[in-house]
Amino acid sequence: VTIFVPRDAASLALGAEKVAKAITAEIARRGLDARVVRNGSHGMFWLEPLVEVRTQHGRIAYGPVQARDVESLFEAGFLTGGTHPLHLGPTKDIPFLRQQTRLTFARCGVTDPLSLEDYRQYAGLTGLEKAIAMAPADIVKEVTDSGLRGRGGAGFPTGIKWKTVADAPGDKKYIVCNADEGDSGTFADRMIMEGDPFVLIEGMAIAGIATGATKGYIYTRSEYPHAIATMQEAIDIARHAGILGVSVLGSRYAFDLEVRSGAGAYVCGEETSLLNSLEGKRGIVRAKPPLPALQGFLGRPTVVNNVMSLASVPIILDRGAAFYRDFGMGRSRGTIPIQIAGNVRHGGLFETAFGLSLGEIIDDIGGGTASGRPVKAVQVGGPLGAYFPRALFDTPFDYESFAAKDGLIGHAGIVVFDDTVDMLKQARFAMEFCAIESCGKCTPCRIGSTRGVETADRIARGIEPEKNRVLLADLCNTMKFGSLCALGGFTPYPVLSAMTHFPEDFSPAPVVEAAE
Ligand code: NAI
Ligand code: SF4
Repeated sequence: VTIFVPRDAASLALGAEKVAKAITAEIARRGLDARVVRNGSHGMFWLEPLVEVRTQHGRIAYGPVQARDVESLFEAGFLTGGTHPLHLGPTKDIPFLRQQTRLTFARCGVTDPLSLEDYRQYAGLTGLEKAIAMAPADIVKEVTDSGLRGRGGAGFPTGIKWKTVADAPGDKKYIVCNADEGDSGTFADRMIMEGDPFVLIEGMAIAGIATGATKGYIYTRSEYPHAIATMQEAIDIARHAGILGVSVLGSRYAFDLEVRSGAGAYVCGEETSLLNSLEGKRGIVRAKPPLPALQGFLGRPTVVNNVMSLASVPIILDRGAAFYRDFGMGRSRGTIPIQIAGNVRHGGLFETAFGLSLGEIIDDIGGGTASGRPVKAVQVGGPLGAYFPRALFDTPFDYESFAAKDGLIGHAGIVVFDDTVDMLKQARFAMEFCAIESCGKCTPCRIGSTRGVETADRIARGIEPEKNRVLLADLCNTMKFGSLCALGGFTPYPVLSAMTHFPEDFSPAPVVEAAE
């Protein structure tokens, strides 16, 4: 019998390690013929630690399991799928999972992340094998035709970026994976690195072959120790298996990989700042042009792609561009792993074709707030994303529809707030976040964010509120159009959206200061 207990950081935080130990001890105590496999997470965090048993009727799920539940699970005969208060039925039938279209996350939660045998069994490496048999220009064309756009947030067509690098002259080229997942409410990159690391390795090797790059770096955050350890182990396994190294799967292509970790600066997720940090310099933003595609890491042509973009490439090569682009709407093709977080009942990862409405995601899939109170606002796209009120819940989840409503989908993280949230405080927080994380290179962001905090404070104290509201909006415009990168340039999104959609929170009653 095989029992699955996740090793994903979210599950570990919820007690998965103790559960795995308790199950192993119970197996030994009862002298049973069973083994524990540590899988990735399926991404249903309200059910973690989610324990599964492989039975003749498929995988049966139990959750959320704590160590103290283990004995009663064995008593209830859970090794054969017995009933128990934590019994959830077949994993694949849990509605949150059943409603998804899992392309990028097809294996996440299903396999042992560090078993190449599992990886191959679930269609792993077939994309890379196909890529090796193709001309590099045809690989680039396949990715372009698939319609894949940068999943880090900007939505730039991945195939066009690869073509720029492939066509650029250079004695050495690089693939840099941006795994510095810093947005609030996001965890998709982490889940892939911890739950299916080989898919990222495969995607990066394909990118290398397509563009003529022989070396890759995964730049991730030091706050992701489990992802770093899993990626490193997977890279070692891939090297020993001949997937990485002087000859990728016995081909004429060489490609190798290294993991590097950042030191906790949000702005190092911005690609040029990331490249500086990777080169051992201070993580400050470089002016563009030159584009990293032409002069990136060490001044050489460099593909900088997000984890999600690279992890979506293997299935595109395996199943073909037409298969992938068949999902989605408008110019947003394929699937998007939506991360639902904050004050929400069913928080987790939901991969689906572009086009679901925001309301369906929050109300139907997320199940509304965890507090049971009405949803007041959702922030989409990280700390620099706009706040959307319920009135905008009919917005389809795609790049253009969100842009048309002055928002962005970013890295597809959604944070839900109930009616107790104070939107003036949230606007102040956006400015404060920018002030703390600013790299300091340009004035609108470095100075503007601090002035923004002060202006928000004056509004909160009822000091000349009308004048200060106008000033705050004006400041936002200066930051939007005068900043060098997205940090200063996008901070106005949460501030202006809060002011536009929740004006009542920007007219607080004046605070009467107590006399000394
Ligand atoms: P951008 O629009 O300047 O560039 C997008 C990408 O396309 C870059 O990699 C750029 O080098 C490349 N590019 C542009 N023109 C090109 C050309 N002609 N040939 C080849 N490559 C070309 O956007 P930026 O500043 O890189 O990213 C902003 C986005 O980052 C925002 O939309 C935001 O949602 C997202 N973001 C994501 C975060 C995360 O944690 N994932 C955190 C903060 C922001
Ligand atoms: Fe640095 Fe802010 Fe300017 Fe970006 S906008 S370059 S983070 S100072």
